[in-house]
Amino acid sequence: MAEQNALAEHFERTIERDQRIEPRDWMPDAYRKTVLRQVAQHAHSEIIGMQPEGAWITRAPSLRRKAILLAKVQDEAGHGLYLYAAAETLGGDRMELTERLIAGAQKYSSIFNYPTLTFADVGVIGWLVDGAAICNQVPLCRSSYGPYARAMIRICKEESFHQRQGYELLMTMMRGTDAQREMVQDAVNRWWWPSLMMFGPPDAESTHTAQSMAWKIKRHTNDELRQRFVDMTVPQAEALGVTLPDPDLRWNPERGHYDFGEVDWDEFRRVISGDGPCNAERIAVRRAAHEEGAWVREAAAAHAAKRARRAKEAA
Ligand SMILES: [Fe+2]
Ligand SMILES: [Fe+2]
Repeated sequence: MAEQNALAEHFERTIERDQRIEPRDWMPDAYRKTVLRQVAQHAHSEIIGMQPEGAWITRAPSLRRKAILLAKVQDEAGHGLYLYAAAETLGGDRMELTERLIAGAQKYSSIFNYPTLTFADVGVIGWLVDGAAICNQVPLCRSSYGPYARAMIRICKEESFHQRQGYELLMTMMRGTDAQREMVQDAVNRWWWPSLMMFGPPDAESTHTAQSMAWKIKRHTNDELRQRFVDMTVPQAEALGVTLPDPDLRWNPERGHYDFGEVDWDEFRRVISGDGPCNAERIAVRRAAHEEGAWVREAAAAHAAKRARRAKEAA
């Protein structure tokens, strides 16, 4: 009992001093579960997030655009892998996590359940979706769980490349024909509100925020991050020459922030609980990839076992 108290006190003090909790450290079960849930959802989002843009790789308009898009989508696969590895340090099993994802038992970001209708969507995803991801993820570089925080440092560097490639693509299209400019505006109209939903429900309705903030797993609330994203994005939209589809969007000099309209939270709840435009397709594609990859996993495991046996025989 005394030993247990000492461990709990050490945990609390580590958090208080802004130091990191490492895999070998004692941590409360609820902390482990909360970080694991967040890291797993984040990993799933990276992997599912490959689909909407991946769909455009074969239809990219030039070799240069194809190379950029390929690199970007591969980065997202890498992000998923770092994060599954971080989940494993908490006792999560990657196979089990994948199975929970394809069974619909674990969530991923609602944003990836919207379709990509034109190539402008690739640019808008880079600008808005990766932009929102950066707002969410930069503070996570200081998350109290060490492996998660370290994974985020590397991921954030790549996310800023993603955002810039998106913005550069949109800039190019905006300098093009009227049809291209219309395509960009249409994509902005469709992605703006779902991007604001990426920060999660309003603080008053967010079930996990308070405890995650106390444990410094999260460093800012959903509404704070959403506001930061809006403030950052409005001047970028002006520079680009597109209109954000919100008649209530205006600078509020008293608050020193942009005011903006109400997000359609019914839509958010529908999409996050499985009833968005592409949820079924995303899960079906992920399930097929998992099943078709079974032989690769089996072959790799058999090869590793053979090498281990040979090494043992040689020794
Ligand atoms: Fe990513
Ligand atoms: Fe990204």
